[in-house]
Amino acid sequence: MENLVVLVTGSNRGIGKATIEEFAKVGCNVVINYCHHEEEALEFMEYIGNTYSVDCMAVKCDISDEEEVEKMVNSIVDHFGTIDVLVNNASVCRDSLLLDKTVKNFRRILDVNLIGTYLCSKYVGKIMLEKKSGMIVNVSSTNAIDTYYPESCDYDASKAGVISLTHNLAREFAPNIRVNCVCPGWVKTDMNKDLSIEQINEERKNILVGRFAESEEIAKVIKFLCSDDASYINDSIIRVDGGKYNG
Ligand SMILES: NC(=O)c1ccc[n+]([C@@H]2O[C@H](COP(=O)([O-])OP(=O)(O)OC[C@H]3O[C@@H](n4cnc5c(N)ncnc54)[C@H](OP(=O)(O)O)[C@@H]3O)[C@@H](O)[C@H]2O)c1
Repeated sequence: MENLVVLVTGSNRGIGKATIEEFAKVGCNVVINYCHHEEEALEFMEYIGNTYSVDCMAVKCDISDEEEVEKMVNSIVDHFGTIDVLVNNASVCRDSLLLDKTVKNFRRILDVNLIGTYLCSKYVGKIMLEKKSGMIVNVSSTNAIDTYYPESCDYDASKAGVISLTHNLAREFAPNIRVNCVCPGWVKTDMNKDLSIEQINEERKNILVGRFAESEEIAKVIKFLCSDDASYINDSIIRVDGGKYNG
């Protein structure tokens, strides 16, 4: 995988950050994307540059904005010449009672999680199609499949859309570009920072391994899916949830 150029959206923290480091460990050149937290992104870029012998850049881009996505992709191609791997990881989640949600907030979740995944796939996909190679991994969630939380109905719908988009991208981009999707269960990131100890303990009862995942445990699966060892895995939806059920 050495020298591949890897773009991970939403990678200044959480699962995206761990994914960048997994790719850097094996010699890939990496692009950190962020939307709000510039300081974290720049510090992380410096850390990657000082720790691994790879080239690293950080790009600010709101993935829900088509012009910004096009600009981000062009700036990466100007710097690296190409993009080999796209991990559509960035996402937002705002829990509130279903009846309290506003259309504006519901649309924002769909705009970032679903439209953002589409836009990045569209602009990076053009480059991959031209050179007839590339790998895309979309990050969905078990919430899209069989775990239902009315307070995140907007997020869950966006993640179900990401699964559907995976199947359609895989078809349109075949045979040279593989498109897969991972569905994490509970992961220890900022996304879950507001959960109480009681809620965490309650959720842990429904996970066969009895704990939340570390970000690295998701990142390693994403990296595997982009490796030659996964050369025959395409159009797959893979749960990485420690054996999670609805209790
Ligand atoms: N954590 C879990 O339990 C869990 C479970 C299932 C699935 N997932 C999925 O795994 C992925 C990563 O989750 P996480 O827990 O690592 O998330 P996180 O810690 O909340 O980080 C979210 C990332 O997305 C970026 N982001 C947000 N809005 C963006 C936008 N409009 N444009 C570009 N970047 C944007 C953030 O950048 P800024 O900091 O700059 O805003 C940040 O880097 C997501 O797709 C999530 O849905 C997570």
